[in-house]
Amino acid sequence: MQELIDDLPEQIAILDDGFNILAVNRAWRDVVTRHGYVNALPGYNYHTVCAQHAAAGYEPAAEAVAALDGLRSGKHSFWQLNYNGRERWDGRDFQICFHRIVRGDNNFTLVTRFDLTEINELRRLKSEFNRALEQGQASERLRLGRELHDGTSQVLTAIGLLICRLKREPLSAQTSALVEELQELLGEAHQEIRSISYLAHPPALDKLGLANAMKLLAEGFARRTGLEASFEILGEYDPVSATAKAAIYRLAQEALSNVHRHAHANRIRVQIFCRASATHFVIADDGVGIKPEALAGGCSGVGLASMRSRMAEIGARLTVRNLQPGTAIVASLPKGL
Ligand SMILES: Nc1ncnc2c1ncn2[C@@H]1O[C@H](COP(=O)(O)OP(=O)(O)OP(=O)(O)O)[C@@H](O)[C@H]1O
Ligand SMILES: [Mg+2]
Repeated sequence: MQELIDDLPEQIAILDDGFNILAVNRAWRDVVTRHGYVNALPGYNYHTVCAQHAAAGYEPAAEAVAALDGLRSGKHSFWQLNYNGRERWDGRDFQICFHRIVRGDNNFTLVTRFDLTEINELRRLKSEFNRALEQGQASERLRLGRELHDGTSQVLTAIGLLICRLKREPLSAQTSALVEELQELLGEAHQEIRSISYLAHPPALDKLGLANAMKLLAEGFARRTGLEASFEILGEYDPVSATAKAAIYRLAQEALSNVHRHAHANRIRVQIFCRASATHFVIADDGVGIKPEALAGGCSGVGLASMRSRMAEIGARLTVRNLQPGTAIVASLPKGL
């Protein structure tokens, strides 16, 4: 048993029925001896140790005492707490768990302490990195949208005027047909640019509620791309927090941008389903459907990944569904967030 627990990286102590410390593993022993907490070693009583720290005003120790009492009375058989260290452990994050184990007539308690500082730091760095990547992409889109709108679009307008002048000249039937085709292609190029620059400069979110902003976004997008759009709210819509509002609106922008770039769809549906426990925001298209590798997260794009991390940050869940035909992006936000 000792050998078994010694090799585990988390700090482990095994307590008897009265919370006397029976055994500890190497990680536990190293930490308590290094920091001079020798009364947290075999032979001492863990409940007494926690009570001493609690009496000195340390809140997590007071919670641990209450949890040990709860284990003794049978109120629960598992307890867990995430807390910040103090004194020598100031600035570090920990998780402590108590498991009640019953073996025949004997009750044991397994105490496990994890140092979460590095994991939390990595999580923070990952989310910072995602945010930076996403901001880079958003500002690049903004720049591109502006360039296309203010630069390329003006050149296309000038070409359009020249084509109109050309059409007034005497032309052979063959040249005339070519000029018609040219004008049609020019119209398509124009529409393409309007769609891209629209998504870079969508309707302002601050002046509108989220539902209205999503409606305008979908309708404006459909008008410019030539897609059919529908918008509906099912149930009683409750406004969401400002953070959730911004995150879901950005998700809708990226989802529509993906429809434009990848879906080859004819129709988009934007729906808000208001349920008792959650609100579901759906952006669905009837296009070619999302490839399995993209569904599995194996694509190099930033869009879906940043949708996922954004939703995780606000406590919502992202689901991507293959509709046959088409794709649905669903953001599910628990009520009250
Ligand atoms: N509505 C959709 N219909 C079909 N395929 C889609 C749709 N949305 C996403 N995809 C697929 O999922 C992939 C990943 O999308 P994601 O938004 O992450 O990246 P991207 O659009 O390719 O690039 P980025 O968003 O970084 O500019 C896309 O390349 C595309 O193959
Ligand atoms: Mg994308």
